[in-house]
Amino acid sequence: MSIPKIEIAKGVKIPQVGLGLWLVRKDEDVERSVGAALEAGYRHFDTAQIYGNEGKLAKALEDRGIKREDVFIATKIWIVNFAPLLTIPSFNRSLKRLKTDYVDLLLLHFPVTLLRNHAWKELEKIHQDGGAKAIGVSNFTVKHLKELLANCDVVPAVNQVELHVYLQQPELVEYCREQGIVLEAYSPLAHGYGMDNPVLQKLADKHGKTSAQIMLRWCVEQGAIVLPKSKQADRVLSNIDIFDFKLDEADMAELKGLDSDHRTCWDPTHVI
Ligand SMILES: NC(=O)c1ccc[n+]([C@@H]2O[C@H](COP(=O)([O-])OP(=O)(O)OC[C@H]3O[C@@H](n4cnc5c(N)ncnc54)[C@H](OP(=O)(O)O)[C@@H]3O)[C@@H](O)[C@H]2O)c1
Repeated sequence: MSIPKIEIAKGVKIPQVGLGLWLVRKDEDVERSVGAALEAGYRHFDTAQIYGNEGKLAKALEDRGIKREDVFIATKIWIVNFAPLLTIPSFNRSLKRLKTDYVDLLLLHFPVTLLRNHAWKELEKIHQDGGAKAIGVSNFTVKHLKELLANCDVVPAVNQVELHVYLQQPELVEYCREQGIVLEAYSPLAHGYGMDNPVLQKLADKHGKTSAQIMLRWCVEQGAIVLPKSKQADRVLSNIDIFDFKLDEADMAELKGLDSDHRTCWDPTHVI
């Protein structure tokens, strides 16, 4: 199945769906999930230092003879590595685990108080030296982004945040759009929450899709990159089968009604 690409920085195109790898730790789970994803047509993988699977991802790609230039790899600097002098060495260890000399996208995992702007400068250096084709942030609110934009030389290419029908974050979506920062929707299936909602089921019936596919398509309608995770091969496949239909205005209006500020992961809104 072919997945559209979005340009996130000059010359850097990212497949609009990537395989999320959070909590996919066991060798056999990484193996199955990445294997099913490659077979289905995924070429974008979202890992992080803290996920503990950078090396396992590299092995799964290597075992299948996948060429480095044929996949888009994103990883994230974990919060303890925001400390001065730790960021770049920690990134070099990530590269070693990933068996590559560059990543396609490198993110700051969280807007750590007092350290985030310094850590961003380190990412700018990595970017300048060619270690990361694009750099971005994760879990940044409008407040954190405004502060960063006032201090940075490179505008983040993306902001990876929790985004789904139950957490629609219209203010953040609008702000990122205005600033040209592409959103990446993590936990786009709300980690499995509320899939039996009648509105989702009605729209699933209308479009001949599943509730999960309606949730993922809602993210696509926001212009976001989508990062679903599944350890099951059939779901990995169905999670990219979302580009042969559209949600119309009436569908989107109904889905607006599901917005309930429901977070499944961490809440950065109180981070000063
Ligand atoms: N930057 C950050 O701070 C951050 C935080 C959280 C997540 N993320 C990224 O976002 C990715 C995805 O988020 P997530 O893992 O929280 O959750 P998610 O993709 O919203 O949901 C995953 C859950 O949904 C189930 N599922 C997957 N596909 C399904 C389908 N088609 N139908 C029904 N259930 C389905 C999975 O179970 P099965 O495995 O059994 O299918 C799993 O329990 C992560 O892996 C990570 O890459 C980033």
